[in-house]
Amino acid sequence: MVRKIKEGVLWAGAIDWSRRLFDELIPLPEGTSYNAYVVRGNERTVLIDTVDPSKEEELLSNLKEAGIEKIDFIISQHGEQDHSGCIPRVLERFPEARVLTNKKCKEILQDLLHIPDEKFRVVEDGEILSLGGKTLEFILAPWVHWPDTMFTYIREDKILFTCDFLGSHLATSDLFAREEEVYAGAKRYYAEIMMPFRANIRKHLERLEKYEIELIAPSHGPVYKNPEFILNAYRRWASDEVGPEVVVAYVSMHGSTERMVAYLVDELIKRDVRVKLFNLTVTDIGEFAEALVDAAGIVFATPTLLAGPHPLVLYACALTAALRPKIRFVSIIGSYGWGGRTVDILKNLLSPLRVDYLPPLLIKGYPGKEDLTSLQTLAEKIQERITSQDLDQEM
Ligand code: FEO
Repeated sequence: MVRKIKEGVLWAGAIDWSRRLFDELIPLPEGTSYNAYVVRGNERTVLIDTVDPSKEEELLSNLKEAGIEKIDFIISQHGEQDHSGCIPRVLERFPEARVLTNKKCKEILQDLLHIPDEKFRVVEDGEILSLGGKTLEFILAPWVHWPDTMFTYIREDKILFTCDFLGSHLATSDLFAREEEVYAGAKRYYAEIMMPFRANIRKHLERLEKYEIELIAPSHGPVYKNPEFILNAYRRWASDEVGPEVVVAYVSMHGSTERMVAYLVDELIKRDVRVKLFNLTVTDIGEFAEALVDAAGIVFATPTLLAGPHPLVLYACALTAALRPKIRFVSIIGSYGWGGRTVDILKNLLSPLRVDYLPPLLIKGYPGKEDLTSLQTLAEKIQERITSQDLDQEM
């Protein structure tokens, strides 16, 4: 299936309705799409990205349906295989085509797909390619999320192709985004894939300000007819501002930690602190990641298992450290039977983050009255952090 975006610009990708895991890591509750685009000028035709190798036949069928007899360039904006994996097959079908990309992406494509040197044309940041009536400008945007990412801008049509950037994992029949439908998925996608690169994202968003953009065409999810919707969302998410909310992520084996968590959450709610609570044994880890986008802080709550935290808490901590959210404080609470190194282990895992640690609260066995009072004190401290002058000024 191909669909017209503008005169001479076609969507020729594939919708993956049933995929439920990406990179063997990221849950895809709403599937995804791999967006390939055909751009036809008076003199040249290009294909912008391909699709995941599982959808190879669909891509080739789309090119046939579009009546494409010659491709001058396959523009590869990013080397990850969900966009590049079909390049070898497209080169087989269109042997005259060259892969147009940047130096870093070429290197990655050669590593991953063994495409021979002579098949490439390498472009620099800002380089122009005329298709005849359509002028493409290539904008290098490294580290959103790989070092190779490149955007493509059609000057005449004011369309910006952004590859993974600004995308969403959403299988939908809508070619153009319905904002209320795409927002949560786009935020979750940002959390899982883009959040570690906030500083670069802010830089690239600033660079894009000089471009007049009417359409944003990412490589996953629908096309944005209102570019400011997604650009403003990214400006907010990537900023240093946090919300008046705390994430609580916990595991409990025999109810002690759960009692602590339930009590703490009640005390926080009484103090008008917004809480997002995750029982890590049943949590979709993408929802946990999404909650980290706006949170001011996080509470990890764990039982003690083999002298340390429960493995699911270890995983949530490692993921938090890798995703580098803008949280300002961390609290570690939990229960133990006879000892353990929970706090040291978790702090070590979280060491890449620049955060303050509230005093930890590890209790022996099931929480008693004094422990509940300590949890009240912790709730007060969290409330103070949430409503502190420092936070207010930055919000
Ligand atoms: Fe959609 Fe980084 O690949």
